[in-house]
Amino acid sequence: MGKEELMRKLEERIRNCRKCPLWELRTNAVPGAGSYDAKVMFVGEAPGYWEDQKGLPFVGRAGKVLDELLEGIGLTREEVYITNIVKCRPPNNRDPTEEEIRACSPYLDRQIDIIRPKVIVPLGRHSMRYILEKFGFEPEPISKIHGKTFEAYTLFGKIVIMPTYHPAAALYRPPIREELERDFRKLGELLKELG
Ligand code: URA
Ligand code: SF4
Repeated sequence: MGKEELMRKLEERIRNCRKCPLWELRTNAVPGAGSYDAKVMFVGEAPGYWEDQKGLPFVGRAGKVLDELLEGIGLTREEVYITNIVKCRPPNNRDPTEEEIRACSPYLDRQIDIIRPKVIVPLGRHSMRYILEKFGFEPEPISKIHGKTFEAYTLFGKIVIMPTYHPAAALYRPPIREELERDFRKLGELLKELG
């Protein structure tokens, strides 16, 4: 089975999933969107109001920030893959619980295995913690490790992890916007190096 078919089947399973109580509250599950051949995967936290309404990741205000950051380094949504650790919206946008992350993260693991990206960019501290621990690194405060790179080895080869802030943080803390822009410029250079 090719990537396309594997991903479509996985997305279908996510849309019908009832592995944790969040399924009862959702309008739409949000599997992820973008290219299945993406070199870079962005991993947010969980869908918010608009994502739940539309079934697509990062389509609200934080999504607009993400679009601008991508555009700043010449990337479009069509050439990257964007998803979240948890695929259904937590009530009132609360943080996902450990149980919800445990129930849902196998979908993210599978997405990584199918897409085989060269770079993973966790957005925000929940995603940073999950991804770093998954690849055997110690999580640290996001203010300390954003923009740093971690090299990990997978069955499909080397992968670089570069955590950064959640784009929503730029909305209520303007100085974070500059940090995000700096991290994205670094990402742009990294992608050029990796070819
Ligand atoms: N915040 C996230 O973490 N993910 C989304 O998809 C939207 C907002
Ligand atoms: Fe399933 Fe994840 Fe949705 Fe929970 S959040 S119901 S585990 S898809």
